[in-house]
Amino acid sequence: MEKNLKGEILITGASGLLGKELVKIFLKNDFFVFAQYHNNKPEQKKNLEWVYADFSSLKGIRDFLEKNKNRFNQCEYLINNYGPIIYKDISDLKSEDFLSDFYHNVVTAFEITDFFVKNTNIKSVVNLGFDSIGKIKAYKKILTYACAKNSILLLIKSFAKQYVNICFNVVSPKTLEGASVELKKERKIFPEKVAIRIYNKIMGLSENVF
Ligand SMILES: NC(=O)c1ccc[n+]([C@@H]2O[C@H](COP(=O)([O-])OP(=O)(O)OC[C@H]3O[C@@H](n4cnc5c(N)ncnc54)[C@H](OP(=O)(O)O)[C@@H]3O)[C@@H](O)[C@H]2O)c1
Repeated sequence: MEKNLKGEILITGASGLLGKELVKIFLKNDFFVFAQYHNNKPEQKKNLEWVYADFSSLKGIRDFLEKNKNRFNQCEYLINNYGPIIYKDISDLKSEDFLSDFYHNVVTAFEITDFFVKNTNIKSVVNLGFDSIGKIKAYKKILTYACAKNSILLLIKSFAKQYVNICFNVVSPKTLEGASVELKKERKIFPEKVAIRIYNKIMGLSENVF
């Protein structure tokens, strides 16, 4: 890593709506960014390395981590941004939808976080999850996703208790401006704003959740 850089970070889902804004802000602030993509590799820039992964199977996640072990070993920062949404009426839900959302959101975050705490110099981790686990509410369209995103909070709180020298945060944005799935008619938030919030969390510039 060049001397003038602040650190190295892995951002998952980096070719998506929020991911691209996260990549921008970390590059602007002198980080070296490992940015995970799947089908759409964006343009190459200085201090940026696009890293392919297919998270649709456990093998895909583990291959990604194993293959890039040496690449990631100096990483001090991680953003588990990958987390697709299933949007379905409760009456159409099947058990497979729970398995799928739990798998894509919780299992992926667990595998990557667990690997980072054991194999890298990780100092700070941000996850995209729900931060309202104490205020249980009913969901009509995103029940399986909400179950998974609530589990992320529990998972990350538990990691924070185990690995006390690492800073863990969960960020829970409203619907993003430009998102393909509109959850409800609520005010939306620009992905740039969420990216700034996450940057501040990673850098300890705003209060930590845990
Ligand atoms: N969208 C919203 O309104 C909203 C609101 C609150 C929270 N969130 C959370 O914010 C985070 C980012 O959401 P977003 O809307 O920015 O996501 P997005 O635009 O849908 O981006 C999806 C990302 O996941 C990658 N991806 C898709 N399938 C993959 C696979 N099989 N294996 C590996 N990578 C795969 C995509 O890569 P390619 O494009 O390269 O294929 C892309 O980088 C998520 O955790 C989401 O739950 C979103």
